[in-house]
Amino acid sequence: MTDFLTFRTVDEMRTQVATWRADGLTIGLVPTMGGLHSGHQKLVTRAAKKCDRVIATIFVNPTQFGAGEDLDSYPRTEKADCEIIADAGGNAAFVPNVSEMYPDGFATTVKVSGLTDMLCGATRPGHFDGVTQVVSKLLNQAGADMAFFGEKDWQQLAVIRRMARDLDIPTKIMGVPTVRDDFGLALSSRNGYLDAAQIEVARQFNVILRKTAYDIASGGLATDECAKAGQAILDAGFERIDYVECRDAHYLELIDRVEDQECRIFAAAYLGRARLIDNHSVS
Ligand code: PAF
Repeated sequence: MTDFLTFRTVDEMRTQVATWRADGLTIGLVPTMGGLHSGHQKLVTRAAKKCDRVIATIFVNPTQFGAGEDLDSYPRTEKADCEIIADAGGNAAFVPNVSEMYPDGFATTVKVSGLTDMLCGATRPGHFDGVTQVVSKLLNQAGADMAFFGEKDWQQLAVIRRMARDLDIPTKIMGVPTVRDDFGLALSSRNGYLDAAQIEVARQFNVILRKTAYDIASGGLATDECAKAGQAILDAGFERIDYVECRDAHYLELIDRVEDQECRIFAAAYLGRARLIDNHSVS
């Protein structure tokens, strides 16, 4: 941790990035909201493999939380987060406060249409507008060569890729495969809201989705198989389903019969205080 840097302001980060650039070094950015786990660690490790210097950002972005969501209780564990970043090969953390990111009079929105209307966008209105607002700022602030995002939030990754392309943001957007526990449960900061019995239930989620992906790839109609999966998720002990859908992996259009296109099954469901999401390739 001795050489690990913490930037609180955009100016501090930019000054250091300029020094690294002057030395001919490449920069990787790992945007996070903190509460880091092995999934984030893998993002930093991947970034450190691809880039000479890695900055992880820690900012619980208020504009991507809806009313009644977990903004106040979202884990804030900066010291432990910085240790994880450093151990994974990261060089610095950018930890701005809300007024650094959204100064008085802030009035700009960034919206990707279409891709944000379905899946998580349908039940979390405005969520992706908050994500694109903060991620566009972070990409502009850091001026990194590459930025790394987890594939667990596949829709978020698709939205960010589209935004970066549409706005000619030169940072290359990199997807990193989901990290899972030994039972296949996708790691998430929100898994911390679950007790031991709920974790057992949560572990059924990926098992059901993988079976559903297999059944669709074997010729089952996606609408039928997704309906069966929804029932199986409820039977496993989840309280409510948000969606279980099969969609094109890039354009996120609904698919009923899978032919040559690259598809994924996407699901979100509620268990206790947590809303879990996951996705799997249908192939
Ligand atoms: O995936 C997240 O943790 C957040 O949505 C992100 C990309 C850091 C933006 O706040």
